Amino acid sequence: MLPVQTLTTESFASLAQQYGTARTFEDSSLVTSLLSREVSPFCLDETSFSNLKQLPGETSGDDAVVTFLEDAEGRQYVLKQIKLDSLDEQISLIKEYVVAKVGKAAHIPIAKTYMIPKEWQNSAKPYKDKAAILQIKVPGKILRELKDGGVISIHQKNYSKYTKEMWETRFGVLSPSEKGLTRSVLQSMIQHEDLIKLVAFDTFINNSDRSAPNVIYDDKEDRYYGIDHFSAFSNRSLAAHALRQISDYKAPLTSKEKEGLVTYLEVLKTLHKHFTPEKISSEIDKMLALHFPEYEKNEDAKDRVQFYKKMIAENYEDVRKLIQLLEKMI
Ligand SMILES: Nc1ncnc2c1ncn2[C@@H]1O[C@H](COP(=O)(O)OP(=O)(O)OP(=O)(O)O)[C@@H](O)[C@H]1O
Ligand SMILES: [Mg+2]
Repeated sequence: MLPVQTLTTESFASLAQQYGTARTFEDSSLVTSLLSREVSPFCLDETSFSNLKQLPGETSGDDAVVTFLEDAEGRQYVLKQIKLDSLDEQISLIKEYVVAKVGKAAHIPIAKTYMIPKEWQNSAKPYKDKAAILQIKVPGKILRELKDGGVISIHQKNYSKYTKEMWETRFGVLSPSEKGLTRSVLQSMIQHEDLIKLVAFDTFINNSDRSAPNVIYDDKEDRYYGIDHFSAFSNRSLAAHALRQISDYKAPLTSKEKEGLVTYLEVLKTLHKHFTPEKISSEIDKMLALHFPEYEKNEDAKDRVQFYKKMIAENYEDVRKLIQLLEKMI
């Protein structure tokens, strides 16, 4: 692998050609900043992928199957595939991948993520002919498994068009006062800078699925990581809920809450400045063209992409208003 510092846009393009896979070499503008800051653990080519060894354990959730792998140096990875065959479900992998790229570029504590083309094979891939995402396995335990994990909740709750029915059946109706950046989410997030960054990231990517299984805590390093961005941009604006909640906070803010909101605002401003809806949407288009070119002929998949783009644009506008409010307030 080339040292990252020597990778310029030109050498990157030629490397991508050499490996014959522009689909996994992130060849976009987003990535220039990503590469300049981070040393990639390996060059992800088809052979490297097929050489990863499967580790025991597999989890299967509502939408996805997750398996664990390891490379020759003992680094561990998580492979995620979507269960349903339909193209409108499969393309959500692209959204999860693009969102992870945005987060890594902005130094949010989430796992580095690669897109795995349908044709690439590894015995750990439960659906041989489906695409996948491969993530670095972050250290630690999910919050739900920790003794006092229940104390912290940075879940900015919201319904999505796709999850409303499931949510109401399982948890009941969600009142407006429980949605978005509630005072209790604020009080949890100020326990750690990683949590503040994750909350700001979720507000920006409209992720209302940061429940206890999707936060990992590493007690050795005292770090938190977010995983699972499958639900990003699937809702009406989470930023609008943050805006409303913050305006409605009853008691005056403590100095720690204020400090927390200052960091939250900084992260939001960075994301808002660098990741416009045009940039994110064009990244999604580019990856769709590479991995799911057939989506253009599929009405459901096209509708889903349009819906995501609408959510991206609406939320971005609400993030702008939220930034204005916070700048006045603190
Ligand atoms: N990058 C990661 N590092 C460590 N563990 C991970 C990572 N990604 C996933 N896991 C583990 O795998 C489990 C399932 O992964 P994930 O939350 O992404 O999918 P899911 O909840 O099954 O799917 P979805 O919500 O997309 O239907 C997590 O709860 C966690 O235990
Ligand atoms: Mg999950």
